Amino acid sequence: MDYKFINNESDRTIVLLHGTGGDENDLIFIGQQIDPKANLLGLRGRINEHGMNRFFRRIKPGVFDIDNLVEETKYLHKFLQTFAKINQLDSSKMVLLGFSNGANIIASLIYHYGKFYQAHILLHPMIPIRNFKVVKQDQNLVFISAGDNDPIVPFSEVQDLVEILENHGAEVEFKVYSFGHSLSEKELIDIQKFYKKKVIKSS
Ligand code: MLT
Repeated sequence: MDYKFINNESDRTIVLLHGTGGDENDLIFIGQQIDPKANLLGLRGRINEHGMNRFFRRIKPGVFDIDNLVEETKYLHKFLQTFAKINQLDSSKMVLLGFSNGANIIASLIYHYGKFYQAHILLHPMIPIRNFKVVKQDQNLVFISAGDNDPIVPFSEVQDLVEILENHGAEVEFKVYSFGHSLSEKELIDIQKFYKKKVIKSS
């Protein structure tokens, strides 16, 4: 997996996963805004869809190739564990932040592994897999943002995702904006607040 690693020799690491067509550099600026002292690890999805990087295959917009999503989810988890070991990082202090396609694979990671990383920031996610036996979440920390006018992600689908995670024991902070599928300034401020309150305070 291609990546960009900024090692600030911190015990905290923010892992950043781009949306469709992005790369490992895309979300570094968000990491720098929320925690300038943390190590930053920007990842590049391994799937190439007509020249656009993604973290898993899709059959068409909004319809995922579930076998590939499961395979890439397991690969991502293994990659992060190995990366942490090699670079002497504490993976339980990693915060995973993803936008759109990047948020969807983090949602799948949460479904599969539960509370493994310190916190998860899902910007404009969808339900990754239907009819999946989600593992116990044990107060897993999750921030979810949605656009109530998002043309790509139906708003009710994000509400369902929040409910599924809460029903399995996750502690979810859910924020709604009206900027379609785009990130907004207000959203960045809310992420900063969540991170300060839930990540910095507990470390
Ligand atoms: C996906 O994973 O396909 C998305 O949520 C939509 C996108 O990234 O374009």
